[in-house]
Amino acid sequence: MAIEKIKNQKPLVVAITGASGSIYGLRFVKAVTELGQPITLTLSAAAGLVIKEELGIDVDVRESAPLARLFDANACDLISYYPEHELAAPIASGSYPTRGMVIIPASTSCFAKIANGISDSLIERAAECAVKEGRKLVVVPRETPLSAIHLENLLKLARLGVSVVPAVPAFYSGAQTVDELVDFVIGKVLDQLEIPHSLYRRWTGPEYFLSLQNRSGGGNK
Ligand SMILES: Cc1cc2nc3c(=O)[nH]c(=O)nc-3n(C[C@H](O)[C@H](O)[C@H](O)COP(=O)(O)O)c2cc1C
Repeated sequence: MAIEKIKNQKPLVVAITGASGSIYGLRFVKAVTELGQPITLTLSAAAGLVIKEELGIDVDVRESAPLARLFDANACDLISYYPEHELAAPIASGSYPTRGMVIIPASTSCFAKIANGISDSLIERAAECAVKEGRKLVVVPRETPLSAIHLENLLKLARLGVSVVPAVPAFYSGAQTVDELVDFVIGKVLDQLEIPHSLYRRWTGPEYFLSLQNRSGGGNK
């Protein structure tokens, strides 16, 4: 499909915040754009710090140009980027149609603000719009241990219908690399959005472990 036609589809809003695990956010954007889906992306200032710390990539999240440092040209074609301070961006209004929002990874500060109706950045405002318009909101928290405050905030969100998908990979899928563990979490997020994928092996019953034992080594797909 031509890029212009794809871009006319309702975008998925994706926010990357300053929790550890920026690899999850970047890999998620890559997976969704590889599936040909348009994304409206926003990164918090803290996400920029964590990306530098964890991945060694220096990005100025206040500008859209650094997108090219994070994603390939095909992905960039499908991404509209807005810095988190840009409160006049389309996704700051519930009237702008989207297919929902994913916050990956989500900092404790970010989900605390959403749970308590504080929308002082584009990320929290877009999340507020998703909730009030009854659209899908997926939050991928990354913190451990979780305090009672964190748990209360996540419970509030779950009761509002928000999907809480902690960045916790499973080990039954036979993952052998960090990328495969990351892909397990990405796959679980895509499941919430009902986007088909083959990023992790689904449990198929007792024969599942046999198939893992019998595989000839290397990848698990
Ligand atoms: C290297 C690094 C790792 C961090 N890891 C986490 C984390 O795993 N979870 C979390 O909630 N906050 C983490 N933080 C703290 C957040 O970045 C901080 O609370 C920030 O204010 C979140 O802002 P944001 O929600 O606007 O991105 C980390 C910060 C740094 C610099």
